[in-house]
Amino acid sequence: SKPLTVPGLAQARAEGRKLAMLTCYDAGFARTLDANGVDLILVGDSLGMVVQGHDSTLPVSVADMVYHTACVSRVLQRALLVADLPFGADATPERALEASLQLLKAGAQMVKLEGAGFKLDIIRYLAERDIPVCSHLGLTPQSVLTLGGFRVQGRGEAGQLVLEQARQVAQAGASLLVLECLPAPLAAQVTAQSPIPTIGIGAGAQCDGQVLVLHDMLGLDSGHRRPKFVKDFLAEGGSVAAAVQSYVAAVRDGSFPDVEHAYAS
Ligand code: KIV
Ligand code: NA
Repeated sequence: SKPLTVPGLAQARAEGRKLAMLTCYDAGFARTLDANGVDLILVGDSLGMVVQGHDSTLPVSVADMVYHTACVSRVLQRALLVADLPFGADATPERALEASLQLLKAGAQMVKLEGAGFKLDIIRYLAERDIPVCSHLGLTPQSVLTLGGFRVQGRGEAGQLVLEQARQVAQAGASLLVLECLPAPLAAQVTAQSPIPTIGIGAGAQCDGQVLVLHDMLGLDSGHRRPKFVKDFLAEGGSVAAAVQSYVAAVRDGSFPDVEHAYAS
């Protein structure tokens, strides 16, 4: 089928087609993901953890992101390529623009950045310059030092803040919204009010799409406790291609995530 475009994301949502996204960091896996129906590929700064072996995403540089984005980009034919702005690269509009241009020139079609607040101006600054932006709310791993760990966000009254942030990032010009580690009912509410498609990870089944870290869905030991939203698709698939196909099928038909992979409240 033909390549997915940024306007194609809104169209998929309008037609009720769920979007299947996975992270990827190299050409070998990128070929397999692209050939087996993955709609969006994220060169995530999770590479700091799963590729580089750090215990957070904070050490990842723009050069690292550009390198992996180029590796993935060279072989893609259909999937839309999103790349993360690493920690600090979105600290000012000028830095964010410079890093985003490097990522787009390396083949990314959209950049992702975490948070709202002062980041709203950055989202607007990029979007006004024709750089498609994906926003990332809920658990934002680049905030690990201030959060004190990786845990579910938006519980109780904090849910209102997430709803407000989701409105703000769309208003600022984001075209896609990743929701990480939120109670499923809150993510469903965000999705229902959102003018842009939502992609969940640990955010229940009501999002417009899902994303997982590739290494997690292939059952590799991350060296950390496996979060409950992760499912090993290789165990049942038997090959990487079959695992990817079964993930894509499960996202499309809504059978992944199941209740066992979601936070109830
Ligand atoms: O870096 C990453 O892999 C991500 C996803 C978990 C959304 O940001
Ligand atoms: Na990330």
